[in-house]
Amino acid sequence: MRAFLPGGKFHNKDPIDMHKLLNSEYGNILRFPGQFGRKDIIITYDPQDFETIFRMEGAWPYRRPIYAFDYFRQNVRADLYKNNGGLLNDQGEIWGQMRSAVNPVMLKPKTVRAYIPAIDDVAVEFVGQMKTLSDENQEMPANFGFELNKWALESIAVIALEHRLGVISNNGDPESQKIIESVKDMFHLSFKVEVLPPIWNYIQIPMFKKLMAAFNTMTDISKKYVDNATERILKGEAKNVEGSDDSVLEKLLKINPDYAFIMAMDMLLAGIDTTSTVVADLLYHLAINPSKQEKLREEVMRILPSVDSKLTTTSLNSVPYMRACIKEAMRLTPTVPGNLRGAGRNLVLQGYQIPKDTDMAMVGGVLHLDDSHFAKSKEFIPERWLNDIEMEGCPNGGKSPNPFTFLPFGFGSRTCIGKRFAEMEVTVIMFRILREFKVEWHYGPLKFMQAFIIAPTNDLKFKMIPLKYYPKQQKSQKI
Ligand code: HEM
Repeated sequence: MRAFLPGGKFHNKDPIDMHKLLNSEYGNILRFPGQFGRKDIIITYDPQDFETIFRMEGAWPYRRPIYAFDYFRQNVRADLYKNNGGLLNDQGEIWGQMRSAVNPVMLKPKTVRAYIPAIDDVAVEFVGQMKTLSDENQEMPANFGFELNKWALESIAVIALEHRLGVISNNGDPESQKIIESVKDMFHLSFKVEVLPPIWNYIQIPMFKKLMAAFNTMTDISKKYVDNATERILKGEAKNVEGSDDSVLEKLLKINPDYAFIMAMDMLLAGIDTTSTVVADLLYHLAINPSKQEKLREEVMRILPSVDSKLTTTSLNSVPYMRACIKEAMRLTPTVPGNLRGAGRNLVLQGYQIPKDTDMAMVGGVLHLDDSHFAKSKEFIPERWLNDIEMEGCPNGGKSPNPFTFLPFGFGSRTCIGKRFAEMEVTVIMFRILREFKVEWHYGPLKFMQAFIIAPTNDLKFKMIPLKYYPKQQKSQKI
């Protein structure tokens, strides 16, 4: 394990490079010893293993919880979380009951579409804010990544809390300031606490106390706005979703008021740095691949012929190139590079016996950048996800014939419950940004470090050139 400490060959390494090195040194399957009394974990890089593990996961798949958050729910705010830890962290039958109840609310395309106009309002505000952030070189500030976090928080709050928090322009409002600080602490400290020796079980170190304070703030905010929404809904007041259908919060409140609050908190935890990272990565890939950016802009101009055009509930019904670009960004720079499961039963993988309940990590991110799975794997080629093209000399249109090599949202009954909302939010903000700006990047490759969500560590000083100053679009080239 010394190799992971300062000076060691794995220390502070890019997560995908670290896995490539582990893979080349130890082979396609290895046992990673658990530290400080934690369980060992088996890491596999073989997509056939992924399929076996997922197919054998059982009705209530186990995914190792985030321990600090578990501690918070069970020890700090047991008053609110009672016996339910939420989808992210709970296991077994309790997880299964909540998941079955919440699935139809979160995964129904009609429900997701109903939020497009409200999410578009947030995106329009964000693009307005970008204009004020732009410096004399038309570059975004070094902390643009955090600005994207704020966009994601504002967007997910519209869905989870039915409330506009006002964090994008944050005109000094103390509540928005507190939320912003808590979000920052939540993401920076969760992973640190997770990889530290778990002494916080015994001594409350300052970092741990700060993390608990951040969780507390987010819990109180969620509770307050879910209670407000409950009152509004009981009084029959207006909601922020188009059409005659109930809002997500309304539907959840009708199923079980505890689910509404716990789901809101899960959405805030899982729906901020994930979506903002995909946007940052995609902006980067489009900036360094201008012909793809122009090709995507043709689709943008069709959907938003004028900057004042509004996105409606049907605007995103046919946006194939945007979908392909999002997938390709998630392949080249995976936000979540692997999936975790407990073995659902005794398994044999690559000749090794794996007892039931062993923690397993399936690191597909390594395969994304392997030419034997994805042709020209280091290149940004969204076309590989469109069925109507032939990439010369590349079987299966340039993508792996094994679907288990690319699972950015996980798999099976425990797959990401927010995936449809995530794709919609990313699509809307990308349409708005590309409708107003040509994106450039002048600072070399993106760098990443180990964390729950693999976000770029660079200062995200994208150059955003307003389209009105940009010569008429050139037609994109063929690949
Ligand atoms: C592009 C953005 C996102 C990515 C890449 C992503 C990825 C993932 C992955 C890989 C998992 C684990 C799935 C598994 O174990 O099979 C997951 C779970 C989850 N995600 Fe997402 N996610 C994203 C956005 C969101 C959003 C916006 C929300 C909230 C609306 C959300 C809520 C959740 C929840 C609650 C779970 C736990 C589900 C369960 O265990 O039942 N995610 N996500």
